[in-house]
Amino acid sequence: MSAPVTLRIAYVNGRYLPLAEATLPIMDRGFLFGDGIYEVTAVLGDHFVDNEPHLARLDRSLKAIGIRNPHTIPEWTAIQRELVRQNDLKQGTVYIEVTRGTHEREFTCPDDVAPNVVMFTQAKNLLANPMAETGAAVITVDDLRWARRDIKSVALLAQVLAKFEAKRAGVAEAVMLEDGVVTEGASSTFFILSSAGVLVTRALSNSVLPGVTRSSVMRLARETGLHVEERPFSRQEMLAAREVFYTSASSFVMPVVAVDGEKIAGGMPGPITKKLRAIYLEEAQKG
Ligand code: PDD
Repeated sequence: MSAPVTLRIAYVNGRYLPLAEATLPIMDRGFLFGDGIYEVTAVLGDHFVDNEPHLARLDRSLKAIGIRNPHTIPEWTAIQRELVRQNDLKQGTVYIEVTRGTHEREFTCPDDVAPNVVMFTQAKNLLANPMAETGAAVITVDDLRWARRDIKSVALLAQVLAKFEAKRAGVAEAVMLEDGVVTEGASSTFFILSSAGVLVTRALSNSVLPGVTRSSVMRLARETGLHVEERPFSRQEMLAAREVFYTSASSFVMPVVAVDGEKIAGGMPGPITKKLRAIYLEEAQKG
């Protein structure tokens, strides 16, 4: 994103503050060690898209690294709603981050250190996204990440490097490969519609984030009668696919029209992808 930081109200540990005052100490463990968890939920008018599963995943990620979840789901929701209200956000995302807290820089810290909680909104044109019309070009990169990619950790250096590589190539997203097989996008889940017309995405494991949008899209795809398979697919299979798309909280269902400069589906968003995006958006806006 090339937008400068715009003025708004952010949330830090119980307080709603102008962004410039919304700060944490440099001894915050999220800053020093990437020792924290995050979530991103899309906001469409009054509706928070798939918010319950996002908050459930937040809880799961926190448990996985032994950080106490400082809030119940109703408390999280109330803070999100208040922040969206104070920022008058109509369309965009709400970002939550929980770090293990502030402590002298040592690799471990006592169990009773209080987690730091930060939340901010980002205004975005999610519905009328021009890329959804044209489709996105992507490149493949090596997956350089650690072994617990199912945890939504703020330690995102490998993804940041992948996104810079995509930016240098003039494309929207990087799709990560391990042993020639797709894991996922730098910030998204990848799907292909195979030459046999089967919707394929990698099965959940420690190798990929359990995408919330992935799960909703798989359910909607099955409801429309598509056959969905959870299995690995290679770069070669992706290049030969009828359609390719990626999903995430902020892109919903995004058609892919080129991989490493090779056209997919004649370089146009495919009909099944367009249909799944439309159905997903319909449901997301209904609430
Ligand atoms: N990223 N895989 C990775 C590595 C991701 O970072 C994301 C989301 C996804 C899709 O998950 P979901 O459908 O639950 O958003 C898959 C968010 C949007 C981000 O980092 O901004």
